Amino acid sequence: MSGNRTFTMIKPDAYAAGNSGAILKMIEEAGFKLVAMKLTQLSADTAGKFYEVHKERPFYGDLVKYMSSGPIIAAILEKDNAVVDFRKLIGATNPADAEEGTIRKIFAKSIEANAVHGSDSDENAAIEGSFYFSETERV
Ligand code: CMP
Repeated sequence: MSGNRTFTMIKPDAYAAGNSGAILKMIEEAGFKLVAMKLTQLSADTAGKFYEVHKERPFYGDLVKYMSSGPIIAAILEKDNAVVDFRKLIGATNPADAEEGTIRKIFAKSIEANAVHGSDSDENAAIEGSFYFSETERV
């Protein structure tokens, strides 16, 4: 059975461009409820830990540098079938491949500066949500 929570980050490019409000509006209009949210800036160390699964990938160093380059918004979202539906809403990792109307198609600048993160499984949604939020920081 699919879970009802996923985790997202509005990444430094989208925050810096002033697109956080528009992105959150699209997320809410698609039926997701915000159950935790914070504005923060990651250290390189913390960004490295969050993306540790990509440690061996050639883009890891740049990704860590980019994700710690400015403020981000982290949030846990609730909706039936959250992980799958959220990935549909944000579109493909590379905005060049993303469908029209998706968040990445509208707001992303590149495959790295791709506006938002979305968990790829229920298991990772739980891990990533707990990375940022304690029990008392969620509704
Ligand atoms: P995200 O969904 O947060 O997961 C890993 C991130 O690595 C991805 O979004 C991009 O921001 C970044 N990235 C940079 N280059 C690549 C690449 N070639 N393939 C996949 N992800 C990449």
